[in-house]
Parts: sequence; structure tokens; C-alpha cells
Amino acid sequence: MVHFMSFLIAFSLIAVSGKASSGFLYPQFYDHSCPRAQAMVKSVVAKAVAKETRMAASLLRLLFHDCFVKGCDASLLLDSSGTITSEKRSNPNRNSARGFEVLDGIKSALEKECPQTVSCADILALAARDSTVLTGGPSWEVPLGRRDSRSASLSGSNNNIPPPNSTFQTLLTKFKLQGLDVVDLVALSGSHTIGDSRCTSFRQRLYNQSGNGQPDNTLDQSYAAQLRPRCPRSGGDQNLFVLDFVSPTKFDNAYYKNILASKGLLNSDQVLLTKNKASMELVNLYFFGGQLSTWPTT
Ligand code: HEM
Ligand SMILES: *[C@@H]1O[C@H](CO)[C@@H](O)[C@H](O)[C@H]1NC(C)=O
Ligand SMILES: *[C@@H]1O[C@H](CO)[C@@H](O)[C@H](O)[C@H]1NC(C)=O
Repeated sequence: MVHFMSFLIAFSLIAVSGKASSGFLYPQFYDHSCPRAQAMVKSVVAKAVAKETRMAASLLRLLFHDCFVKGCDASLLLDSSGTITSEKRSNPNRNSARGFEVLDGIKSALEKECPQTVSCADILALAARDSTVLTGGPSWEVPLGRRDSRSASLSGSNNNIPPPNSTFQTLLTKFKLQGLDVVDLVALSGSHTIGDSRCTSFRQRLYNQSGNGQPDNTLDQSYAAQLRPRCPRSGGDQNLFVLDFVSPTKFDNAYYKNILASKGLLNSDQVLLTKNKASMELVNLYFFGGQLSTWPTT
């Protein structure tokens, strides 16, 4: 694993997940009130990932979908009731976001260990870190002490999380609204080195990218031909495809290599190379493990 990219993605994940509505966050937050909290999260996540590798990807994605809506406050985990309309039914989450039962299991275990102490928002941030490490990615210390939301925002979930057919500008705009920049965008998109996508999330690229009846010309045509049989013009919406066909369960930099070969699965992956110079340079940088010879080596 390449260290500079490790550092960047870890740093970006702290940037995104350190956003909290409440006070100062620090890794030792539960050292006295629930000393085994971090170990317990790790152990449940490890069991879940051992049972199904994809769970690592699903848990990591949940952190993104939580943090982009009112901060990293576990609002995503709330079910509908009373005044709450759950974010789970938004366009980005419906038939797609998964892993909730693993988080529920961790929360139950922690309620027994130290009642009313560890927030769901912290559990999610830890589970995403542990998932990244378990699949071979970088590690980082998770600042803790987030407070859980008592409300959800369905519209926030629909509006803030960019759809997969977003233009580069839309991606950057939606990241900027979260205080994130182009470096965060390219580094965090590297999470698509693990996990799956449904056919419905990239079909447009295979058949009618710009409304002209033509496939996306930034998609490798032999790769497109491999995808079409299981992602037909209509039907098969839920069919699953790996986001990184080279090493689908390994957290590595093949994601960037795929993009450079015009084999990014989602439009939002490929535009990082084709539509913006800064972003294109970052894709190259992370492909080389952040160690381009021109990069200052200090
Ligand atoms: C840059 C904008 C992004 C877009 C447009 C996007 C879009 C998507 C889409 C459409 C899928 C497939 C969902 C499905 O069809 O069921 C997906 C999966 C995934 N995304 Fe993203 N994503 C973005 C950024 C991120 C970020 C920032 C992270 C994490 C930090 C992330 C982590 C994941 C993971 C791990 C999966 C696989 C989930 C699984 O297998 O359950 N994505 N993303
Ligand atoms: C993305 O897909 C949605 C839903 O299918 C569609 O309404 C929208 O026009 C598409 N956007 C782009 C930029 O292609
Ligand atoms: C492609 O999409 C456009 C508009 O989105 C639609 O009018 C057209 O019929 C579609 N063409 C094909 C071949 O599906």
C-alpha cells in the first residue's frame, strides 16, 4: 500500500468524519467511560467482514452518506417514526445502502458494556475505519465524541449526495458544500476500490450517455461490451458489478489505474480524469502512489 495516498485518504476521511455539531473530538474520548469500545467495534466489524467481504465497503459508504447530511451525526441510521422521515429511503440509499444490522449489533453490545455512552455516530466512524483497514487500506485515529442526531433529512440526503451520473462540476460543488476540496474528492472517491454497484447506477453510460443514443466515449468499449449482457437497456436494475474489476475486495490503488485505462465503472469515477486538470493530475498522482518523481521528497 502506497503511503502518500494512504495518508491522503485517511486525512480526507478525518476531514469528512470529524465534522460534528458538538464539541471537541479526540481519540481518547471513551478511554475512561468505555475503555473496550474501540476493540468491541473492531471485533464485530471483523466478524461481519469475515462472513461477507462486501460488508467492509457497505459500512465505509454509510459514513459518507451520513456525513454529507447534517454532519456525521448518525442521522442516516434513524428509521421513520413520528416527525422523522428516514434518510434510508432517499434516492442514493434506497435499495442500495446496507450494513445497518451490523451497526445495530455493535450498538446493542456497547449498550450492555457501557449503557448510554458510545454514540452511534462514533460507532459508524470507527466501523468505517476498521473496514478500510480490514481490506488492506490505510489506518487512522478516529476523533471521537460525536453526538447523535434526533432528526433526519430526506431532502438533505437527496440533494447533498451526488448521483453517479454527476458532471465533474456537480461533484466538486457538492463536496465544497461540505468543506471538502478537489483533493478530498479524488482521494475519497478512491473508496471505490472496494464494493459493488448496481446496473442502474451506470446503465446510462452503456447506452445513452448524452441523450444521443450513444455510449459514453470515455468508457473503454471492450469493458462496456463485457458489462452490457448483465446490464441490459431495461431490466436487471439491481444486478451487481464490482466497482474495481482488478482487485474488487482489496483496498489498493487499482481504482486509479482503472480510471487511467478508461475503465472507471461510474461516470463520477471517470470524470475525475477527463474533465478537470487538477483532478486529472491527482488521479495520476495516486496511481503512482503519490510519489511522482516531480513531487518534492521530504
Ligand atoms: C464522489 C462522489 C460519489 C458518488 C457519485 C458515488 C456513487 C456511488 C454509487 C452509485 C455506488 C453504487 C451504489 C449502488 O448502485 O447500489 C457507490 C458505491 C460505493 N461507494 Fe460511492 N460515490 C461517491 C463517493 C464515495 C465516497 C466519498 C465514499 C467513501 C468515503 C464512497 C464509498 C463507496 C463504497 C465503499 C461503495 C460500495 C458499497 C457496497 O458495495 O455496498 N463513495 N458509490
Ligand atoms: C442523471 O440521471 C437522472 C435520472 O435518470 C436524469 O434525470 C439526469 O438527467 C441525469 N443527469 C445527467 C447529467 O445525465
Ligand atoms: C436517449 O435519451 C434521450 C433523452 O434522454 C431520449 O430522448 C432518447 O430516446 C434516448 N435514445 C435511446 C436510443 O434510448
